[in-house]
Amino acid sequence: MRSYTELQLAHRTVCIRVDYNVPLRIDRTIVDDARIRASLETIQYALSQQARVVLCSHMGRPHGIDPRYSLHPVALALSTLLQREVKFSMEAVGDVAQAMKKNLADGEVLLLENLRFYEGEEANDPQFAQQLAEGIDVYIDDAFGAIHRAHASIDALPRLVKERAVGALIEREITALDRITHASALMLIIGGAKMGDKIEMLKQLLPKTSGILVGGALANCFLKARDISVGASRVDDASVSIARELLADQNIASKLMVPTDGVVAAATDDVHTRVVHFASERVADHEMILDIGPDTRAIFAQQCARATMIFWNGPLGLCEQPLFTEGSRSVARAISASPAFSFIGGGDTGAVVRALVPDARFSHISTGGGASLQYLSGAILPGLIALE
Ligand code: 3PG
Repeated sequence: MRSYTELQLAHRTVCIRVDYNVPLRIDRTIVDDARIRASLETIQYALSQQARVVLCSHMGRPHGIDPRYSLHPVALALSTLLQREVKFSMEAVGDVAQAMKKNLADGEVLLLENLRFYEGEEANDPQFAQQLAEGIDVYIDDAFGAIHRAHASIDALPRLVKERAVGALIEREITALDRITHASALMLIIGGAKMGDKIEMLKQLLPKTSGILVGGALANCFLKARDISVGASRVDDASVSIARELLADQNIASKLMVPTDGVVAAATDDVHTRVVHFASERVADHEMILDIGPDTRAIFAQQCARATMIFWNGPLGLCEQPLFTEGSRSVARAISASPAFSFIGGGDTGAVVRALVPDARFSHISTGGGASLQYLSGAILPGLIALE
């Protein structure tokens, strides 16, 4: 993997592919700017080298041009963080974008509009990539969160630019992920709703895994697979089948820790919650399990205190509702207090733990959930292959 520090950037037009797929409020203000902050190191380095910086990114999954997914709010936020003007092109390709790229001076920054406003991006269209490559001397991929997507700006574009490398963010992410892949006693904490996107990672890491703590809606699938009533809880049927297979494998089952109790309510906004101990009580048909219960929290916290290496992907309760955040909060605190190397697996999990325990200390909070899982599952990542 070639590093951005090995490239000659001075007086050259440098395209940095970033991942500015950040959550926005209805008024278009940014909920969590972690991904923007995480991109600063490479941008600041390029500017210090007197490069002309062209940033490009996707946001959301729009179908054609849709102002709700414009990157303009990101240009404003980035300008504040960099404390300098960030020019914004309302097009990613075409005459306007081309002219703005051409007119950049040394040490100036331009952000192009959302790449996914163009079909060519997700189609990995060579012509679209060619348009993006116009006027670009150097390409740096720093969009870790999108490194598993074979899209034009990640795959076809770098192949058209001779001088190419990864940026500081991707280097940090890969270094942290490699600590996980080389671990000998790994504690996995998995939550969220579905098993499908985690199963390959689980199989790959299993020999190094000392324990697997399961929470979130995913835990419901394991409870259901054991014929424990889950009432009206969210359950992904495909994940229940996978859970059955995992439980049938003695080697895996011996490492799995499924909640022994849960916080339940009749609706996600119902303040009348109760704790159910699954061994002795039943979740009523109209109730949903919305968080791990106090006994499970204590068990999970003990496990974290003993661990030397922790990988966590997926919230452990319905964290959109303050009533159901205690499981994720207590585990975040336990990890923060433990001396273990901790990797928080990106996307939702990172934003959730940052909001719940702002002063918590983790070794690494990833900017890419899907990308981390793919890397850990041993998959070939288009963004890395294209740079070879
Ligand atoms: C993410 O948020 O996981 C990345 O930005 C990739 O986005 P995508 O899943 O829409 O491709």
